[in-house]
Amino acid sequence: MTDATPPPQVVNPLSAGPDSTLLPQPCVLVIFGAAGDLSWRKLLPAVYNLNADGVLPANFAVVGFGIGAEGDPEEWFRARARSGIEKFSRRPIDEAHGADFARCLFYVSGSFNDSRAYQQLKAKLEAVDAQFGIPGARVYYLSIPPTMVQPAVDALKANGLVSSPEEQHAFTRVIVEKPIGRDLESAEAVNRCVANSFAESQTYRIDHYLGKETVQNLMVLRFANSIFEPLWNQKYIDHVQITVSEEEGLTQYDPATNEPTASRIGYYEGVGALRDMVQNHMLQVLCLTAMEPPYSLGADVIRDSKLAVLKCLRPFDENALEHSVVRAQYIEGEIHGHPVPSYRHEVVDFDSRHNIPIPNGTTTETFVAMRVFIDNWRWAGVPFYLRTGKRLPKRASEIAIQFKAVPNILFNQNQNVPLEPTVLSIRVQPEEGLSLRLASKLPGPKVRIYPVKLEFNYSSLFGGESPEAYERLILDVMAGDPTLFMRRDAVEAAWEFVMPVLNHWEHSRSRFLPQYQAGTWGPLEADRLIENDGRSWRPL
Ligand code: BG6
Repeated sequence: MTDATPPPQVVNPLSAGPDSTLLPQPCVLVIFGAAGDLSWRKLLPAVYNLNADGVLPANFAVVGFGIGAEGDPEEWFRARARSGIEKFSRRPIDEAHGADFARCLFYVSGSFNDSRAYQQLKAKLEAVDAQFGIPGARVYYLSIPPTMVQPAVDALKANGLVSSPEEQHAFTRVIVEKPIGRDLESAEAVNRCVANSFAESQTYRIDHYLGKETVQNLMVLRFANSIFEPLWNQKYIDHVQITVSEEEGLTQYDPATNEPTASRIGYYEGVGALRDMVQNHMLQVLCLTAMEPPYSLGADVIRDSKLAVLKCLRPFDENALEHSVVRAQYIEGEIHGHPVPSYRHEVVDFDSRHNIPIPNGTTTETFVAMRVFIDNWRWAGVPFYLRTGKRLPKRASEIAIQFKAVPNILFNQNQNVPLEPTVLSIRVQPEEGLSLRLASKLPGPKVRIYPVKLEFNYSSLFGGESPEAYERLILDVMAGDPTLFMRRDAVEAAWEFVMPVLNHWEHSRSRFLPQYQAGTWGPLEADRLIENDGRSWRPL
């Protein structure tokens, strides 16, 4: 799709601020678990980019907190940040910005359940406030295992590190990373203990999919164009497919040497794709795809609309548990011609903190496909097919809206020449954009029909790469905008929906677990799930 007026080429669209009325406020970002993988790969590179793009206020600093630093903790943290930025940053590191960023990095070593460590943290924060002219405002990013959340939030409160929710300048806000619990009960417990120290208005439960540009564009696409919304319902839509396909397995390898460099098995084993991807990212995307138009852009108005979708999801009954959900695990195979091991042979032992061997016969699923229904007026009878998996042939995430076929009257009278359905496909990654597949006449005297695509690609139209999801989300917390964060009730409603599946699997532990070869699109059972409905998964 093209536009008559050339679009603005924006270096970083976030530099305009998230909203003219909500600007990032001076504060210290305190990263709990700052020596960990998320901080290294995502958080520090994200903050570096924001700083380099001039989006952050001048009165800003980062304090890392936790165990794991070696030698001089601050020197170690700065070196660690630099290596993360060099490896993962959206924009390459340059000396001036690198030095400027290093200047605002600090570290406090200590354990999350040691109150002396919090006193040291407090003293450090006061010193940093004085150095940078920060008015006592803090954003605590809890990038820590779920079991550490309670000791951390309790200790923050007990040590006088949480201000009142009414506080305008010396505010405190807490970012809680997923997974929030491992089932409904534990999620409720996490939410309760966070609520003992922080008001809901101070709590930001992060789901980084909501920070992705194309996911945010869903609302604009639906509600700022007059052509889609009238068709966005059971009268015109045949079905919806939401796919999040990942090429990576649970071990990362150095592409040059093929040596393992990191493993997520310690986190993933016993968790699996349903908890890791479906309960959060995929259901959030589903909500934005299916929600009713909110009456305003108010954070809670939008979050109410999303919650209503979760509330209308048809609960899985016995029959649906057997026939509407498929789980599977990858066995060895090839990705782009390179052999890769099975899930059960992933490397687990080079990071002693996560040295959990994979139990023999583990049933942790690395793939899930499901058919879900939203029982409301708009979506009655329209299946939503969700699938996600690791070690699939490529990294690709999309939302595909397939419209109903036209009547069999004019062009498709001959059943041997079926018309391709009209499909709107929204690509979340890579190559963010969207395409609309339409039927068109092939040039020539005969009426021959050919599917064509109207394409819109973010980077070719707007230039440059979109900011990383974490950039946007960290900025929103600094600005006090909770729109893109999950509210307590939504997290719990999403758990409520997946619990029957988890319970069903738990009680059928010894039963058959389908497998798929790494580098394929999942097990045959997933194909059957959709083919039994006379449909097929979209090739990506
Ligand atoms: C994380 C999951 O939340 O999202 C990972 O824990 C997954 O297992 C990742 O790989 C996918 O995120 P993205 O942005 O790479 O699609």
